[in-house]
Amino acid sequence: MDTILILDFGSQYTQLLGRRIRETGVYTEILPGDAPVDAGTLRDVKGIVLSGSPWSVYEDGAPAPDATVYTCGLPVLGVCYGIQRMTQDFGGSVRTLREREYGRKVVELIARDPLFEGFGSSFTSWMSHGDSIERPAEGFEVIGLSDGGIPAALRNREKRFWGVQFHPEVTHCERGIDILRNFAIGICRARPEWTMARYVDEAKARMRERVGASPVLMLISGGVDSTVAAALTLSALPRENVNLMYVDTGLMRKDETVEVMRTLHSLGAEHVRRVDAEAEFLASLAGVSEPEEKRRIIGDAFIRVQQREVERLGIPDAFLVQGTLYTDLVESGKGVGKKAHVIKSHHNVRSPLIEEKRAKGLVVEPLDRLYKDEVRVLGRLLGLPESVVARHPFPGPGLGVRVLGEVTREKCDILRDADAVYISELRSRGLYDLIWQAFCVLLPVRSVGVAGDVRKYGWVAALRAVASSDGMTADVYPFETRDLLGISAAITNRVPAIGRVVYDISSKPPATIEWE
Ligand code: XMP
Repeated sequence: MDTILILDFGSQYTQLLGRRIRETGVYTEILPGDAPVDAGTLRDVKGIVLSGSPWSVYEDGAPAPDATVYTCGLPVLGVCYGIQRMTQDFGGSVRTLREREYGRKVVELIARDPLFEGFGSSFTSWMSHGDSIERPAEGFEVIGLSDGGIPAALRNREKRFWGVQFHPEVTHCERGIDILRNFAIGICRARPEWTMARYVDEAKARMRERVGASPVLMLISGGVDSTVAAALTLSALPRENVNLMYVDTGLMRKDETVEVMRTLHSLGAEHVRRVDAEAEFLASLAGVSEPEEKRRIIGDAFIRVQQREVERLGIPDAFLVQGTLYTDLVESGKGVGKKAHVIKSHHNVRSPLIEEKRAKGLVVEPLDRLYKDEVRVLGRLLGLPESVVARHPFPGPGLGVRVLGEVTREKCDILRDADAVYISELRSRGLYDLIWQAFCVLLPVRSVGVAGDVRKYGWVAALRAVASSDGMTADVYPFETRDLLGISAAITNRVPAIGRVVYDISSKPPATIEWE
């Protein structure tokens, strides 16, 4: 399939570049910026994008692409660091700006170019850079300028290289998607062959070939990824070979376990093992309030329960199907080399079961080329209901990290009730789908209130609601005041144990999305 290769120099936007170009229908792959590039790597590649980076090109150790990138004859688009890199590599110069260019900036186009096909004389871009091109390299000409004459777009006609100082992948960049389409389809002539229907057919065929008539084991968390992976597996393989296991940790949301079971049965699953491990998890957590310690205990309990229950199933050589996403691979550095950022590695429990299956070559990851949005599209294509497909993310340790301090059954119940009211209010107000992730947190304090004529102490619930594209950064969701007041009243009316509701107005960074 025609592919645009993205070389990742560590920008927080690299994943977004991959996703946005795929929105034009052209398939993308990401490799570390300095990965070796040869004829094999370039087999289906029609063009190359060099990403942004936290590095400055003039720093010692600043990463550079394999020389083949510049000699293979394919069109290259440098984004931010990417064009600075090309400038430096071809003899131009890059300097630090006195003042960073950040946010929306108008770009004046001073020459006609296929990269801006269909554009007028200017558009609003989105910038985030502290370095700038001082002198373009030989053969490069400036075709767009931002305020103060700073080069914003360049080209080298002979070599078929382009560069932009702004970020076309960020949604605030007006018509950024058109720039990416003009590059991928207009300039590189890549065919837009990336469709989910095709992916489903190929993924099913790959799975049948790999697994054959062997048994398969899947650990279901109830989240979108594992549910979609289960739906795909059940549609690809004989159902009697598919063994699904769901561990109810007691740290799930209200009615979650019942809904997960219902969904799995509606997919035609025959072998679903529901493990009720609430008592075991809560007993291990008793008396513990330190967040990292809680996470460790929950992780260990998962591993223990998994090992025990999988042994009970008695299918030692079963393939393990996992809902790993492309982002997980890139982030954990497994898929694309050690330089990829390891920001969320602490989220992924290193399970001996997974390690053992991997060592035996028994891990199948049918979603490992997909981004989260694409998994949702796939889920819809496989007939999963919107309530499953559009559900907000939920962390592995569940309510264990949302009941702050010591976790008890009573506190989990209170939090479950408050969270359910919050979410149903968001749905009835038409806000749920506008928010990337929303949930309640139970604070480890009680505050005074009045009920009738008596003073009483109630728990405090904090509301979290964030806008984000991948959870790496997040903005506070800007509620209307009347919605906040309505939600607060609904929670205190319907959950008597809650005496006070507060709204968390911290973005990430500096805060994280979860409180623990
Ligand atoms: P933070 O709190 O790090 O969360 O800003 C970013 C996103 O990751 C989710 N999260 C987790 N997911 N296991 C998971 O599977 C975890 O341990 C975990 N911790 C946080 C969080 O809900 C948010 O979507």
